[in-house]
Amino acid sequence: MWGGRFSAAPSELMQAINVSIGFDQRLADQDIRGSLAHAAMLAQQGIISEQDHADIKKGLAQVKGEIAEGVFPFSDDLEDIHLNIEGRLRENIGEAAGRLHTGRSRNDQVATDFRLWVRDYLDHFGAQLESLQGALLAQAAAHTDTIMPGFTHLQNAQPVTFGHHMLAYLEMFARDKSRFEDCRKRMNESPLGAAALAGTPYPIDRDMTAAALGFDRPLANSLDAVSARDFALEALSCAAICATHLSRLSEEIVIWTSAQFQFVSLSDAFTTGSSIMPQKRNPDAAELIRAKVGRIMGALTALTIVMKGLPLAYSKDMQEDKEPVFDAFDALSLGLAAMAGMVADMTPNKARLADSASAAYSTATDLADWLVRKLNMPFRDAHHVTGTIVALAEKQGKTLDALALTDMQTVEPRITDDVFSVLSPLASASSRTSYGGTAPSEVEKQVARWKKLLPSA
Ligand code: ARG
Repeated sequence: MWGGRFSAAPSELMQAINVSIGFDQRLADQDIRGSLAHAAMLAQQGIISEQDHADIKKGLAQVKGEIAEGVFPFSDDLEDIHLNIEGRLRENIGEAAGRLHTGRSRNDQVATDFRLWVRDYLDHFGAQLESLQGALLAQAAAHTDTIMPGFTHLQNAQPVTFGHHMLAYLEMFARDKSRFEDCRKRMNESPLGAAALAGTPYPIDRDMTAAALGFDRPLANSLDAVSARDFALEALSCAAICATHLSRLSEEIVIWTSAQFQFVSLSDAFTTGSSIMPQKRNPDAAELIRAKVGRIMGALTALTIVMKGLPLAYSKDMQEDKEPVFDAFDALSLGLAAMAGMVADMTPNKARLADSASAAYSTATDLADWLVRKLNMPFRDAHHVTGTIVALAEKQGKTLDALALTDMQTVEPRITDDVFSVLSPLASASSRTSYGGTAPSEVEKQVARWKKLLPSA
């Protein structure tokens, strides 16, 4: 393409390090959309003829068809997706192809393509997060009063409801979705028409191409337009945070499906067997989702370091922006899909969850609160009395609600029969009716709220 200035072919090594068609062919669709918008604008502004515009449209449609059918002759000699498409266009329509690049450079072209690609993927994440939220909501709705142990430090703390636990993740994924939406808003400006770095003397209409490509407006500074990759960094940051949420839920599923916990079971669809141990059912999908955060964080680190210290405007370093984003987004997308499937597939083991909730004196706080409320005891004293009663229960090998009233009265004579109304895990959870609390009545309210917010669920 620049034969006028160079006489020798690039060395093989030069080509090896320079070529990007192996990965940037993923931008083909966005590249064609950008070229169509640019060509229409050039024609409207009288920069190219209507005939050239018609030829370019026809030629790009043909290129698009060839790519869809898998017959497009991608070539390393043509370096990247932009030159591959332009080269093929020239073969298809001849001279008009050469006019497409008027008032445009690969610098604004690639910045436009990549923005469109990232934006398309952000929309896809939004839809995927909604499905995952739907799956969590269905579990929550089915288990508003399924009692399970709530943990702090992974030690039994207080009984909670399974629905409440599901909704905690739903809230996290809702924030992830809104983070992607914020990112989309900020990034939705068009680089097209910034040309190489300084703009162009042709009477182009950047508002027109921006609107045609669904951007809110053109970027206001041509140097920034070709140099900015913070949209990709921001999208990767959102992806990394979302991946940490996925990894936390994955970790819980791994723990919950273990023989020691048996809190939930997964079907064959989301587990694998062991080649040597016939009894095993491994939560591989959860483990892999848990691990994906590594490559996603890695991509964010890689691109941050590529961008650090780059002078304005375009530098070829920036060709290294794509692979980390492609890889990270594919990983997140797969993780979101698999998690939605796994959550929908999961069956909580109610009996086991209830047993576990009553173990380890998880209603001790309720006993202390009862002493405060009914006997007007200072909380510190109530904490001490409860500790003594827990020790007694432990000695007798009983749960708190199985301990005899007379035994409790040896520690605090003013305790009455009414205390048993707070000692069962269900009573404990049901009493937590503060806003956002775990009581089934509160969880039902939140389920109703989310059903309105997620009409498709
Ligand atoms: N393949 C290049 C990239 O991804 C396109 C831009 C090339 N621009 C240039 N001035 N060499 O960054």
